[in-house]
Amino acid sequence: MGTARLMFNSFAASLWLLPFSEYCKADNIYWKHFFEGKGGYPHRQQCDEREYTSEYSGWPTTLVSIEVPTVRGMDAYPSIMDLTDNITSSMECGKPTLLSFSAREVSDGTLFKTIQDYDPQSKALIHQLEKYYQGDPVLNPLTPWERPPIKNVFCIYGIDSKTEVGYYFAPSGKPYPDNWIITDVIYEFERSLLSRSGHSVSGKPNNSSGDGTVSYNSLSMCKHWLGPKVNITRAPQAEHDGSDLQTSMNVEHNHGQDLFPNMTRAPHVKYITYFEDAESIPGWRTAVWELDKANHRNIVRMPVVMRELWLEMWHDMHPYSKSKFVTKAFRGPLRHEDCHWDYSKARCAFPEFCEYRYTFGDVHLGMSCRLKNSSTKLLRQYL
Ligand SMILES: *[C@@H]1O[C@H](CO)[C@@H](O)[C@H](O)[C@H]1NC(C)=O
Ligand SMILES: *[C@@H]1O[C@H](CO)[C@@H](O)[C@H](O)[C@H]1NC(C)=O
Ligand SMILES: *[C@@H]1O[C@H](CO)[C@@H](O)[C@H](O)[C@H]1NC(C)=O
Ligand SMILES: *[C@@H]1O[C@H](CO)[C@@H](O)[C@H](O)[C@H]1NC(C)=O
Ligand SMILES: *[C@@H]1O[C@H](CO)[C@@H](O)[C@H](O)[C@H]1NC(C)=O
Ligand SMILES: *[C@@H]1O[C@H](CO)[C@@H](O)[C@H](O)[C@H]1NC(C)=O
Repeated sequence: MGTARLMFNSFAASLWLLPFSEYCKADNIYWKHFFEGKGGYPHRQQCDEREYTSEYSGWPTTLVSIEVPTVRGMDAYPSIMDLTDNITSSMECGKPTLLSFSAREVSDGTLFKTIQDYDPQSKALIHQLEKYYQGDPVLNPLTPWERPPIKNVFCIYGIDSKTEVGYYFAPSGKPYPDNWIITDVIYEFERSLLSRSGHSVSGKPNNSSGDGTVSYNSLSMCKHWLGPKVNITRAPQAEHDGSDLQTSMNVEHNHGQDLFPNMTRAPHVKYITYFEDAESIPGWRTAVWELDKANHRNIVRMPVVMRELWLEMWHDMHPYSKSKFVTKAFRGPLRHEDCHWDYSKARCAFPEFCEYRYTFGDVHLGMSCRLKNSSTKLLRQYL
């Protein structure tokens, strides 16, 4: 959720960059109009002071860098004298100039205004940016990053995959639309920034990276919707007995500040980290689920997501549910497929819920492990 694709043909690449900074917001009025269905209301871009003073403008690194050949007139062919005078400086002059643009400068049009000399399409791009992005309540890079005024918000996304966060372009010398080539791509991964070419990259990598398509800064924007106290739980994505569960209750969360759990990960285990707030707005709930290594394209079909959503809905609808959110203490099998053979113990895993029940056609031990016939007991513990 929460991202839009800024796709400009002449760049032959898509830039997933929205929203780009927690320091830039649209007017609340605009958000209100959006929810009341009154579109087309012009609004101002509002970035606070911190946006301009922070390096890289609230994004892990420079979003777009462009290498343009140095334009030289009479100096294009330096005299022998100049060369011998100062060979270093004339060699420096021959280097292409690097123009760098922060995420804000891309979204506010500075990039396209600057490259007008190199790109005949720039005027059309500025027009597109104004019409389809800045003037559009959904795609606008600065909207709508307030919590939607609805009862339950569940924000679910994958994290910690290698994700693109910056691009280097150079003019190719060919006519539009092939006039730009990508010369390098910057990725965020494992708390560092890497480039495809191997060059070192400066910036501020986050503690997590994105879902392989959308950067963590964009995905995690909804963490700002959590209130001043947040319950954080980290549990394995697979079925588990609760022994590898980490919880931090009522963690302080200052609005606008990072909320990063002080929790660990065992190697080779994929976790789901739940951030939950059922207090800050009476009767309303906000939850953020971060799934390790969940891929952008597949996340909605992942069994763990389906299981968690199903349990949460089952819990919410149940008249006897006691807690605000479904418990995380235990995740047992819910379907026959979830029962499997435990080779180390030479029996079906989760013996409380699964039993060995051979049926004609089973081709391995795991297939014969089936749920016991007591779904009431099975679900009671999730209330
Ligand atoms: C040559 O150019 C370099 C870099 O611009 C400068 O540091 C150096 O002082 C120059 N040397 C002379 C002799 O002008
Ligand atoms: C990353 O996590 C460490 C500890 O887990 C914390 O000290 C640091 O502030 C975090 N950095 C960011 C950018 O969230
Ligand atoms: C990392 O992500 C968090 C959560 O969205 C955000 O608050 C924080 O500013 C980011 N840190 C950096 C260094 O970009
Ligand atoms: C993180 O947790 C460890 C132990 O659980 C504790 O020693 C450490 O002080 C904590 N760090 C922060 C920044 O809270
Ligand atoms: C955290 O969990 C406890 C126990 O379930 C609950 O009482 C409390 O309201 C929760 N805190 C928040 C911020 O939702
Ligand atoms: C499961 O329960 C149903 C009805 O409640 C019954 O017909 C069936 O035989 C039971 N199966 C087993 C394996 O106990």
